[in-house]
Amino acid sequence: MIIDIFGKVVEIDENPTDIFGLSFCPQMRNYDNSRDWESFTVWHTHEVTDGNFSLVDHVSRNFMSHGIVEIGVNRNGERSFTQALLKNKPDHIPYLGIDIDDKSYLNEPAKKIFTIQSNSFEQERIREYLRSVGIERISILFIDGDHSVNAVVNDWRYADLLSESGVVMLHDTVSHPGPRVILEAIDKRIFRVEKHFPNEDDYGLTIAYRISN
Ligand SMILES: C[S@@+](CC[C@H](N)C(=O)[O-])C[C@H]1O[C@@H](n2cnc3c(N)ncnc32)[C@H](O)[C@@H]1O
Repeated sequence: MIIDIFGKVVEIDENPTDIFGLSFCPQMRNYDNSRDWESFTVWHTHEVTDGNFSLVDHVSRNFMSHGIVEIGVNRNGERSFTQALLKNKPDHIPYLGIDIDDKSYLNEPAKKIFTIQSNSFEQERIREYLRSVGIERISILFIDGDHSVNAVVNDWRYADLLSESGVVMLHDTVSHPGPRVILEAIDKRIFRVEKHFPNEDDYGLTIAYRISN
């Protein structure tokens, strides 16, 4: 497949995969897929716009039936998506924030708010931690960590924890190679994909609603 990323033509290899919810494992040809290439990134005024924050706030309210996993946590103060997720979360629904930096100041075990300082590639360690805090199923997976293709594919792997009507939200889908490229690979028989803010001063948000198994 050939796609256009901000005027650059990029060939995408469609490698076979058994990752839940992906039709193929995308790899950009001629680029290091473990790098967040600046040449694919258009810079915008705000990292998290009001519109984007409001959308996450609004949508997340309807997906609070199971656990929440957020990759890339609370870097934008009150305008962080983390705040939108936490303010809508009933106390009995568990939240796990995953970040390579220490976000433990957010922890509130009584409200089932947990964080783990970890690289999201440490799948075994993170999945063990998820089980230890009682998260077997999730209704929201929020992906906003490392923006390389390989990292976003890795982060998408946690979608195998989604409940039958869960949702994956990806920030930066009109910027950065990883979030942009994975959109091509999402299996549209399993997810209904909505792309938001494509032509605005905004890094973009894509919401993938699970519609089948
Ligand atoms: C764009 S910020 C996240 C912003 C956050 N969602 C918010 O709304 O404020 C990206 C975060 O991802 C974290 N990060 C980068 N690579 C990561 C990785 N491989 N695993 C876990 N976290 C990572 C960074 O430390 C940073 O805090």
